[in-house]
Amino acid sequence: MTVKTIVTEPNKILRQISKPVDNVGKEEQDLMDDMLETMYDANGIGLAAIQIGIPKRIIVMDIAKDEKREPRYFVNPVIVNKDPIKKTHEEGCLSVPEQFAEIDRPSKCEVEYLDYNGKKQLLKAEGLLATCIQHEMDHLEGILFIDYLSKLKRSMIIKKLSKLKSNTAVI
Ligand code: NI
Repeated sequence: MTVKTIVTEPNKILRQISKPVDNVGKEEQDLMDDMLETMYDANGIGLAAIQIGIPKRIIVMDIAKDEKREPRYFVNPVIVNKDPIKKTHEEGCLSVPEQFAEIDRPSKCEVEYLDYNGKKQLLKAEGLLATCIQHEMDHLEGILFIDYLSKLKRSMIIKKLSKLKSNTAVI
């Protein structure tokens, strides 16, 4: 397993639409292992493949709060049902470092996907799990949580991030 570099905003890569995976094989499993390691290393709870520059419809997540790891893997996830009731959660993103905002999303959803072994699964999610899966699935469409904010707030965040990037020394 290798810790990869996480792509951060502003970067056009994050705006790409990820492509479906034909088959879950060794290559995809190795990618999921690397993604999980990268996510843990960055103290995140979710990561989409595009965040390490790979435009494949693959997500890893672990929302367990304690030391016990509970990794989840989603290949080609599709939302098959959404609750009309929305809930607000504070969101952040490894590709939008140190920025947080309250975002409204459907409070519950059902997601069909393939697991680590390529087996079809159905997940009924609510709470943080529902928020996280919807946030990660947005990445597959090139959408970031800051896109739900007003133009002004979004441009302020992007400005801050650009400044942060230009201050980072390249070694
Ligand atoms: Ni994110």
